[in-house]
Amino acid sequence: MKSAGTRSVRLPAYAKLNLGLRVLYKRPDGYHELRTVFQTISLADRLEVAFTRGRTTRIRIDGTPEIKDNLVERAALLVMESLSIHGDVHFILKKNIPSGAGLGGGSSDAAAVLLALPILAGKGLPSGRLQAIAAQLGSDVPFFLHGGTALGLGRGEELYPLPDVPAARGLLVLSGVHSSTVEAYLDLSSRLTSIPLQNKLNSFQREVWRGCADGRIKGSGVAVDDNDFEAVVFNRHPELGKIKEQLQRYGAKPAAMTGSGSAIFGIFAKPAQLKRAAKSFPDNTVFPMSFISRAQYRSAWRRALKLHVEGTLWPPQSPYARSQSAR
Ligand code: C5P
Repeated sequence: MKSAGTRSVRLPAYAKLNLGLRVLYKRPDGYHELRTVFQTISLADRLEVAFTRGRTTRIRIDGTPEIKDNLVERAALLVMESLSIHGDVHFILKKNIPSGAGLGGGSSDAAAVLLALPILAGKGLPSGRLQAIAAQLGSDVPFFLHGGTALGLGRGEELYPLPDVPAARGLLVLSGVHSSTVEAYLDLSSRLTSIPLQNKLNSFQREVWRGCADGRIKGSGVAVDDNDFEAVVFNRHPELGKIKEQLQRYGAKPAAMTGSGSAIFGIFAKPAQLKRAAKSFPDNTVFPMSFISRAQYRSAWRRALKLHVEGTLWPPQSPYARSQSAR
Protein backbone atom coordinates (compact mmCIF):
# COMPACT_ATOMS: atom_id res chain seq x y z
CA MET A 1 0.00 0.00 0.00
CA LYS A 2 1.17 3.53 -0.76
CA SER A 3 1.78 5.82 2.22
CA ALA A 4 0.72 9.48 2.35
CA GLY A 5 4.18 10.70 1.36
CA THR A 6 4.34 8.56 -1.75
CA ARG A 7 4.53 10.18 -5.15
CA SER A 8 3.96 8.00 -8.17
CA VAL A 9 3.82 8.19 -11.92
CA ARG A 10 3.14 5.86 -14.86
CA LEU A 11 5.37 6.33 -17.89
CA PRO A 12 5.89 5.00 -21.39
CA ALA A 13 9.44 3.89 -22.23
CA TYR A 14 9.65 3.86 -26.02
CA ALA A 15 11.86 1.60 -28.11
CA LYS A 16 14.38 2.84 -30.69
CA LEU A 17 15.55 1.90 -34.13
CA ASN A 18 18.93 2.53 -35.64
CA LEU A 19 18.28 4.01 -39.08
CA GLY A 20 21.73 3.06 -40.29
CA LEU A 21 24.68 2.02 -38.16
CA ARG A 22 28.35 2.17 -39.07
CA VAL A 23 30.97 0.61 -36.83
CA LEU A 24 34.27 2.33 -37.57
CA TYR A 25 36.98 0.86 -35.34
CA LYS A 26 37.76 -0.50 -31.89
CA ARG A 27 38.95 2.24 -29.55
CA PRO A 28 41.66 1.96 -26.89
CA ASP A 29 38.92 1.83 -24.20
CA GLY A 30 37.52 -1.37 -25.77
CA TYR A 31 34.33 0.26 -27.15
CA HIS A 32 33.71 0.71 -30.86
CA GLU A 33 33.44 4.09 -32.54
CA LEU A 34 29.99 4.42 -34.14
CA ARG A 35 28.01 6.56 -36.48
CA THR A 36 24.28 6.02 -36.24
CA VAL A 37 20.87 7.68 -36.55
CA PHE A 38 18.56 6.86 -33.64
CA GLN A 39 14.77 7.02 -33.95
CA THR A 40 12.16 6.46 -31.23
CA ILE A 41 9.16 4.31 -32.20
CA SER A 42 5.70 3.64 -30.79
CA LEU A 43 6.47 0.22 -29.22
CA ALA A 44 6.88 0.92 -25.50
CA ASP A 45 7.36 -0.66 -22.10
CA ARG A 46 5.18 0.74 -19.28
CA LEU A 47 6.90 1.72 -16.07
CA GLU A 48 5.21 2.73 -12.84
CA VAL A 49 7.47 4.44 -10.32
CA ALA A 50 6.45 5.15 -6.71
CA PHE A 51 8.83 6.98 -4.40
CA THR A 52 8.58 7.44 -0.63
CA ARG A 53 11.27 9.26 1.31
CA GLY A 54 12.86 7.18 4.09
CA ARG A 55 15.94 6.64 6.18
CA THR A 56 17.10 3.66 4.17
CA THR A 57 16.93 2.74 0.53
CA ARG A 58 14.85 -0.16 -0.71
CA ILE A 59 14.23 -0.88 -4.38
CA ARG A 60 11.64 -3.37 -5.61
CA ILE A 61 10.68 -4.29 -9.15
CA ASP A 62 7.41 -6.11 -9.84
CA GLY A 63 5.53 -6.95 -12.99
CA THR A 64 8.33 -8.64 -14.84
CA PRO A 65 10.33 -11.84 -14.34
CA GLU A 66 13.66 -11.15 -12.66
CA ILE A 67 16.11 -9.60 -15.12
CA LYS A 68 19.81 -10.16 -14.52
CA ASP A 69 21.80 -6.95 -13.96
CA ASN A 70 18.64 -4.86 -14.19
CA LEU A 71 19.34 -1.36 -15.53
CA VAL A 72 16.22 0.01 -13.80
CA GLU A 73 17.61 -0.85 -10.39
CA ARG A 74 21.08 0.40 -11.24
CA ALA A 75 19.63 3.67 -12.57
CA ALA A 76 17.63 4.18 -9.37
CA LEU A 77 20.66 3.56 -7.17
CA LEU A 78 22.81 5.99 -9.17
CA VAL A 79 20.13 8.70 -8.99
CA MET A 80 19.69 8.28 -5.21
CA GLU A 81 23.43 8.31 -4.68
CA SER A 82 23.84 11.45 -6.82
CA LEU A 83 21.04 13.22 -4.95
CA SER A 84 22.22 11.93 -1.54
CA ILE A 85 18.72 10.71 -0.68
CA HIS A 86 17.21 7.54 0.73
CA GLY A 87 13.77 6.06 0.32
CA ASP A 88 11.56 3.31 -0.92
CA VAL A 89 11.33 2.97 -4.69
CA HIS A 90 8.74 0.60 -6.08
CA PHE A 91 8.69 -0.12 -9.81
CA ILE A 92 6.06 -2.00 -11.75
CA LEU A 93 7.52 -2.77 -15.13
CA LYS A 94 5.42 -4.15 -17.97
CA LYS A 95 7.82 -5.30 -20.69
CA ASN A 96 6.58 -5.09 -24.26
CA ILE A 97 10.01 -4.54 -25.85
CA PRO A 98 11.83 -7.86 -26.19
CA SER A 99 15.44 -8.02 -25.03
CA GLY A 100 18.27 -9.00 -27.37
CA ALA A 101 16.40 -7.35 -30.22
CA GLY A 102 18.41 -4.13 -30.70
CA LEU A 103 15.40 -2.03 -29.68
CA GLY A 104 16.97 -0.50 -26.56
CA GLY A 105 14.24 -1.65 -24.16
CA GLY A 106 16.42 -1.89 -21.05
CA SER A 107 18.14 1.39 -21.91
CA SER A 108 14.81 3.16 -22.36
CA ASP A 109 13.53 1.85 -19.01
CA ALA A 110 16.72 3.14 -17.36
CA ALA A 111 16.37 6.58 -18.95
CA ALA A 112 12.76 6.72 -17.71
CA VAL A 113 14.06 6.23 -14.17
CA LEU A 114 16.69 8.95 -14.64
CA LEU A 115 14.07 11.43 -15.81
CA ALA A 116 11.30 10.57 -13.35
CA LEU A 117 12.95 9.71 -10.05
CA PRO A 118 14.59 13.12 -9.36
CA ILE A 119 11.21 14.77 -10.01
CA LEU A 120 9.35 12.46 -7.64
CA ALA A 121 12.07 12.97 -5.03
CA GLY A 122 11.67 16.74 -5.38
CA LYS A 123 15.21 17.29 -6.51
CA GLY A 124 16.87 18.48 -9.65
CA LEU A 125 19.73 16.73 -11.37
CA PRO A 126 21.54 19.04 -13.79
CA SER A 127 21.24 17.74 -17.34
CA GLY A 128 25.02 17.26 -17.65
CA ARG A 129 24.93 14.98 -14.62
CA LEU A 130 21.94 13.07 -16.02
CA GLN A 131 23.80 12.61 -19.28
CA ALA A 132 26.89 11.29 -17.45
CA ILE A 133 24.88 8.81 -15.38
CA ALA A 134 23.08 7.67 -18.54
CA ALA A 135 26.37 7.03 -20.36
CA GLN A 136 27.65 5.13 -17.31
CA LEU A 137 24.62 2.82 -17.51
CA GLY A 138 24.98 2.00 -21.21
CA SER A 139 25.83 3.43 -24.62
CA ASP A 140 22.18 3.71 -25.73
CA VAL A 141 20.77 5.22 -22.51
CA PRO A 142 21.65 8.91 -23.23
CA PHE A 143 19.57 8.88 -26.42
CA PHE A 144 16.43 8.08 -24.43
CA LEU A 145 16.85 11.26 -22.38
CA HIS A 146 15.96 13.08 -25.63
CA GLY A 147 14.00 10.86 -28.02
CA GLY A 148 12.97 11.69 -31.59
CA THR A 149 15.60 11.51 -34.31
CA ALA A 150 19.25 12.03 -33.36
CA LEU A 151 22.69 11.47 -34.73
CA GLY A 152 24.80 9.30 -32.41
CA LEU A 153 28.60 9.43 -32.46
CA GLY A 154 31.34 8.06 -30.21
CA ARG A 155 30.04 4.88 -28.61
CA GLY A 156 26.53 6.19 -29.28
CA GLU A 157 26.40 8.53 -26.31
CA GLU A 158 27.44 11.68 -28.16
CA LEU A 159 24.15 12.96 -29.55
CA TYR A 160 23.05 15.67 -31.92
CA PRO A 161 19.37 16.36 -32.66
CA LEU A 162 18.22 15.87 -36.25
CA PRO A 163 15.06 17.38 -37.75
CA ASP A 164 11.94 15.28 -37.20
CA VAL A 165 11.22 12.60 -39.73
CA PRO A 166 7.75 12.81 -41.34
CA ALA A 167 5.33 10.42 -39.63
CA ALA A 168 6.42 7.05 -40.97
CA ARG A 169 4.70 3.72 -40.49
CA GLY A 170 6.24 0.33 -40.64
CA LEU A 171 6.53 -3.17 -39.33
CA LEU A 172 8.80 -4.74 -36.79
CA VAL A 173 9.52 -8.41 -37.24
CA LEU A 174 10.54 -10.13 -34.01
CA SER A 175 11.81 -13.60 -34.72
CA GLY A 176 12.55 -14.60 -31.14
CA VAL A 177 16.29 -14.81 -31.88
CA HIS A 178 18.30 -13.33 -29.00
CA SER A 179 21.29 -11.52 -30.48
CA SER A 180 24.11 -10.82 -28.04
CA THR A 181 25.62 -7.34 -28.47
CA VAL A 182 29.00 -8.40 -27.12
CA GLU A 183 29.13 -11.40 -29.50
CA ALA A 184 28.09 -9.25 -32.47
CA TYR A 185 30.91 -6.77 -31.74
CA LEU A 186 33.41 -9.62 -31.40
CA ASP A 187 32.32 -11.08 -34.76
CA LEU A 188 32.49 -7.69 -36.42
CA SER A 189 35.85 -6.63 -34.97
CA SER A 190 37.86 -8.98 -37.16
CA ARG A 191 36.21 -7.58 -40.33
CA LEU A 192 36.61 -3.92 -39.52
CA THR A 193 39.77 -3.33 -41.52
CA SER A 194 38.39 -4.77 -44.76
CA ILE A 195 36.47 -1.59 -45.71
CA PRO A 196 38.56 1.62 -45.63
CA LEU A 197 37.38 3.87 -42.79
CA GLN A 198 37.12 6.94 -45.01
CA ASN A 199 34.70 5.13 -47.35
CA LYS A 200 32.38 4.32 -44.44
CA LEU A 201 32.51 7.87 -43.13
CA ASN A 202 31.90 9.35 -46.56
CA SER A 203 28.92 7.13 -47.31
CA PHE A 204 27.32 7.69 -43.88
CA GLN A 205 27.82 11.44 -44.22
CA ARG A 206 26.36 11.42 -47.73
CA GLU A 207 23.29 9.50 -46.59
CA VAL A 208 22.57 11.78 -43.61
CA TRP A 209 23.07 14.94 -45.70
CA ARG A 210 20.84 13.56 -48.42
CA GLY A 211 18.23 12.54 -45.86
CA CYS A 212 18.24 16.00 -44.29
CA ALA A 213 18.08 17.96 -47.54
CA ASP A 214 15.87 21.08 -47.25
CA GLY A 215 16.12 20.91 -43.45
CA ARG A 216 13.73 17.96 -43.32
CA ILE A 217 14.41 14.29 -43.33
CA LYS A 218 12.73 13.18 -46.49
CA GLY A 219 10.41 10.47 -47.62
CA SER A 220 10.20 7.39 -45.47
CA GLY A 221 12.85 8.49 -43.01
CA VAL A 222 16.56 8.85 -43.35
CA ALA A 223 17.48 6.76 -46.35
CA VAL A 224 20.19 5.07 -44.34
CA ASP A 225 19.63 1.35 -44.33
CA ASP A 226 23.16 0.10 -43.98
CA ASN A 227 23.81 -1.61 -40.70
CA ASP A 228 27.32 -3.03 -40.41
CA PHE A 229 26.07 -5.69 -37.98
CA GLU A 230 23.86 -7.29 -40.62
CA ALA A 231 26.73 -9.16 -42.28
CA VAL A 232 27.86 -10.89 -39.09
CA VAL A 233 24.47 -11.38 -37.42
CA PHE A 234 22.83 -12.71 -40.63
CA ASN A 235 25.74 -15.10 -40.89
CA ARG A 236 24.94 -16.53 -37.46
CA HIS A 237 21.16 -16.37 -37.98
CA PRO A 238 20.36 -16.71 -41.73
CA GLU A 239 16.62 -16.52 -41.02
CA LEU A 240 17.07 -12.81 -40.18
CA GLY A 241 18.46 -12.04 -43.65
CA LYS A 242 15.43 -13.81 -45.12
CA ILE A 243 13.08 -11.60 -43.10
CA LYS A 244 14.79 -8.48 -44.46
CA GLU A 245 14.44 -9.79 -48.04
CA GLN A 246 10.78 -10.62 -47.46
CA LEU A 247 10.09 -7.08 -46.20
CA GLN A 248 11.88 -5.65 -49.24
CA ARG A 249 9.91 -7.88 -51.58
CA TYR A 250 6.68 -6.46 -50.14
CA GLY A 251 7.91 -2.91 -50.79
CA ALA A 252 9.60 -1.85 -47.53
CA LYS A 253 12.03 1.03 -48.02
CA PRO A 254 14.20 0.90 -46.11
CA ALA A 255 14.23 -2.56 -44.50
CA ALA A 256 17.06 -3.17 -42.07
CA MET A 257 18.15 -4.71 -38.80
CA THR A 258 18.25 -2.41 -35.78
CA GLY A 259 21.33 -2.23 -33.53
CA SER A 260 23.07 -5.57 -33.14
CA GLY A 261 19.76 -7.32 -33.85
CA SER A 262 17.67 -9.28 -33.94
CA ALA A 263 14.60 -7.13 -34.77
CA ILE A 264 14.17 -6.29 -38.45
CA PHE A 265 12.10 -3.26 -39.44
CA GLY A 266 10.55 -2.16 -42.70
CA ILE A 267 9.12 1.27 -43.51
CA PHE A 268 6.21 1.40 -45.94
CA ALA A 269 5.05 4.41 -47.93
CA LYS A 270 1.70 2.74 -48.77
CA PRO A 271 -0.66 1.32 -46.12
CA ALA A 272 -1.81 -1.44 -48.53
CA GLN A 273 1.77 -2.68 -48.93
CA LEU A 274 2.23 -2.66 -45.16
CA LYS A 275 -0.93 -4.71 -44.71
CA ARG A 276 0.11 -7.28 -47.31
CA ALA A 277 3.59 -7.54 -45.83
CA ALA A 278 2.17 -8.00 -42.30
CA LYS A 279 -0.01 -10.88 -43.51
CA SER A 280 3.01 -12.66 -44.98
CA PHE A 281 4.55 -13.22 -41.51
CA PRO A 282 3.18 -15.38 -38.66
CA ASP A 283 0.84 -13.30 -36.47
CA ASN A 284 2.86 -13.32 -33.29
CA THR A 285 6.09 -12.18 -34.97
CA VAL A 286 5.00 -8.98 -36.70
CA PHE A 287 4.03 -5.67 -35.07
CA PRO A 288 2.94 -2.39 -36.61
CA MET A 289 4.85 0.67 -35.40
CA SER A 290 5.28 4.33 -36.19
CA PHE A 291 8.01 6.87 -35.57
CA ILE A 292 7.73 9.00 -32.43
CA SER A 293 9.07 12.50 -32.97
CA ARG A 294 10.98 14.41 -30.31
CA ALA A 295 7.93 16.63 -29.75
CA GLN A 296 5.67 13.57 -29.30
CA TYR A 297 8.20 11.93 -27.01
CA ARG A 298 8.40 14.96 -24.78
CA SER A 299 4.68 15.61 -24.72
CA ALA A 300 4.02 11.98 -23.72
CA TRP A 301 6.40 12.58 -20.83
CA ARG A 302 4.82 15.88 -19.87
CA ARG A 303 1.38 14.28 -19.90
CA ALA A 304 2.57 11.44 -17.69
CA LEU A 305 4.30 13.78 -15.26
CA LYS A 306 1.83 16.65 -15.34
CA LEU A 307 1.04 16.50 -11.63
CA HIS A 308 4.70 16.71 -10.77
CA VAL A 309 6.34 19.15 -13.19
CA GLU A 310 6.21 22.82 -13.95
CA GLY A 311 7.36 24.89 -16.88
CA THR A 312 8.35 23.64 -20.29
CA LEU A 313 12.02 22.99 -19.71
CA TRP A 314 13.62 19.75 -20.83
CA PRO A 315 14.49 17.63 -18.92
CA PRO A 316 11.27 18.22 -16.93
CA GLN A 317 11.72 20.17 -13.70
CA SER A 318 10.16 19.39 -10.34
CA PRO A 319 8.12 22.06 -8.51
CA TYR A 320 9.04 20.24 -5.28
CA ALA A 321 12.68 21.22 -5.72
CA ARG A 322 12.96 24.39 -3.69
CA SER A 323 16.35 26.03 -3.81
CA GLN A 324 18.04 24.21 -6.61
CA SER A 325 20.84 26.35 -7.91
CA ALA A 326 20.69 26.82 -11.65
CA ARG A 327 23.52 24.83 -13.14
O1 C5P B 1 27.45 0.29 -23.45
P1 C5P B 1 26.79 -1.04 -23.32
O2 C5P B 1 26.82 -1.57 -21.92
O3 C5P B 1 25.45 -1.09 -23.92
O4 C5P B 1 27.67 -2.04 -24.19
C1 C5P B 1 27.63 -3.43 -24.07
C2 C5P B 1 28.87 -4.01 -24.72
O5 C5P B 1 28.83 -3.80 -26.13
C3 C5P B 1 30.16 -3.36 -24.27
O6 C5P B 1 30.68 -3.98 -23.12
C4 C5P B 1 31.05 -3.56 -25.47
O7 C5P B 1 31.57 -4.88 -25.48
C5 C5P B 1 30.10 -3.46 -26.63
N1 C5P B 1 30.06 -2.11 -27.23
C6 C5P B 1 31.13 -1.71 -28.04
N2 C5P B 1 31.07 -0.47 -28.63
C7 C5P B 1 30.01 0.34 -28.47
C8 C5P B 1 28.91 -0.07 -27.66
C9 C5P B 1 28.98 -1.31 -27.06
O8 C5P B 1 32.11 -2.45 -28.22
N3 C5P B 1 29.98 1.51 -29.11
